[in-house]
Amino acid sequence: MTNELYQSIFENNRRWVEEKRASDPEFFARLARGQKPEFLYIGCADSRVPANEIMGLEPGQVFVHRNIANLVVNIDVNANSVIQYAVEQLKVRHIVVCGHYGCGGVKAALQSEDMGLLNGWLREVRDVYRLHEKELDAFTDEQARYDRLVELNVHEQCVNVIKTAFVQRSYRRHGFPIVHGWVYHLDEGLLRDLEIPFVDILDRIRRIYHLD
Ligand code: CO
Repeated sequence: MTNELYQSIFENNRRWVEEKRASDPEFFARLARGQKPEFLYIGCADSRVPANEIMGLEPGQVFVHRNIANLVVNIDVNANSVIQYAVEQLKVRHIVVCGHYGCGGVKAALQSEDMGLLNGWLREVRDVYRLHEKELDAFTDEQARYDRLVELNVHEQCVNVIKTAFVQRSYRRHGFPIVHGWVYHLDEGLLRDLEIPFVDILDRIRRIYHLD
């Protein structure tokens, strides 16, 4: 069974190539020449949240970075390299941080359990909890508290993106990228824009994290 699934990948791939070529003979040749995506998407590694598919975008339209619980950590060379490259080389117009309800990473951070290597990673989510402790503690409904932490985590990761020098510099010089926070509903497939006040956050952030 597992072997069959594995083999089917290559058949799927050949079929996909044929379909793409049939509807657009230049598709692969054009992509091979380079990329000019307008979006950087930073999302959860969860297999149920495929960036291109939920956004309805084709290959070449979105630069993607995914990790557990869609975190943007200061000393994460990977995420920071992705952001710098997307902003300075690709000149993306929008950076999206997309979380999702039902996120296992966020849920794990709400539990008192030693998870080994994940402790350090998910501590970022616990830090989000600590920043918004009063609001989150006030929930009597566990599910509502969990959902709200997913949203607040997206908000704080957007703030972390805005803390970077590349984003501040590019926005001051060119008026982009704009940073957006989204949440994806697993159970209905819909995206919600949290409509974070990007310019207000940027102004507030620059009072302390002014890097250019
Ligand atoms: Co997740």
